Amino acid sequence: MINVAIVGATGVVGEMFLKVLEEKKLNIDNYVLFASKKSKGKKIKFMNKEYIVEELTENSFDNNRFNYALFSAGASTAEKYAKIAAKNGCIVIDNSSCFRMDKSVPLVVPQVNMEDAYDNFNIIANPNCSTIQAVLPLKVLDDKYKLKRVIYSTYQAVSGAGKKGIDDLLNNTTTKFDYPILNNCLPQIDVFLDNGYTKEETKMIEETRKILKKPKLPITATCVRVPVLNCHCESINVELEYDFKIDDIKTLLNNSNGIIVLDDPKRNIYPINTFVSGNDEVYVGRIRRDFSVENGINFWCVADNLRKGAATNAIEILENLINTKK
Ligand SMILES: NC(=O)c1ccc[n+]([C@@H]2O[C@H](COP(=O)([O-])OP(=O)(O)OC[C@H]3O[C@@H](n4cnc5c(N)ncnc54)[C@H](OP(=O)(O)O)[C@@H]3O)[C@@H](O)[C@H]2O)c1
Repeated sequence: MINVAIVGATGVVGEMFLKVLEEKKLNIDNYVLFASKKSKGKKIKFMNKEYIVEELTENSFDNNRFNYALFSAGASTAEKYAKIAAKNGCIVIDNSSCFRMDKSVPLVVPQVNMEDAYDNFNIIANPNCSTIQAVLPLKVLDDKYKLKRVIYSTYQAVSGAGKKGIDDLLNNTTTKFDYPILNNCLPQIDVFLDNGYTKEETKMIEETRKILKKPKLPITATCVRVPVLNCHCESINVELEYDFKIDDIKTLLNNSNGIIVLDDPKRNIYPINTFVSGNDEVYVGRIRRDFSVENGINFWCVADNLRKGAATNAIEILENLINTKK
């Protein structure tokens, strides 16, 4: 019997967990949906059944009730309850930033480093949404041409900031963001650190290094919230150690698991948000040489932040764990 807890089931990512689980039909026997006290008793239709949301409490994981838990309820909830779950024999896959940089916690994107997931103390971290989509193409480039330096510039959707972020765009309010997101691009995601970078930028830099196992890779990032509902876009500039042919890079990326190349400038074809939304792959386009440096390349990378950037990635980890247990 495989029993799975879904923590944060009423949130934007939680709802996507349910959608992706319905699509994937994993070999799971029972689900229990958890959220905060506020949502206790709420009815949610899932897998053709009506589920009643339970309040997450310290006793929710008693008696080794669950084999696995998918958490998407923020860092403070994870800090407290993921540890309780882990102590009760449950393997937690957590979407928050709480454990990502903990040396004893694997930070996993299945297409890049699934092997790391098996070496866990019952907690596995799902990376930041903007990091997940970037490391797929970066890993492919690194394996063949070796990364020398990476520059990230992101254009991130409001759904990445949860329900309040979406509401701010739709209702022109400032509940989540400091300024109206409608008609503005905000060069701030998460709080500022003393060095002038935001926490989001720092997450991208540190998480990329951890996942690719390149602790000293020079990386810089500018993360921007833009007034679009869904899908994060990233302009990624990379310097490589070895020379390349641009067509070889296009073929290599397109043949890689989880990546789709959409790149035909003659026909104005490149990945855009509304096309990519609802898909699980990372889309790459505008692949071109950066003539300002030796072995430089620019590309545009788009993915559904709620799917590959959050729910799908976590569920792919779960799927791999379940399949290898058999
Ligand atoms: N949105 C994205 O693209 C994205 C991508 C990657 C990672 N994440 C991460 O995923 C997490 C959730 O994000 P979201 O965008 O889904 O946020 P959200 O829409 O605000 O949802 C938050 C969820 O957490 C639940 N929750 C809050 N406090 C809780 C508590 N004390 N006990 C139990 N449940 C609690 C909420 O339940 P109630 O409804 O009862 O309040 C809700 O289900 C965050 O850590 C976020 O950083 C988000």
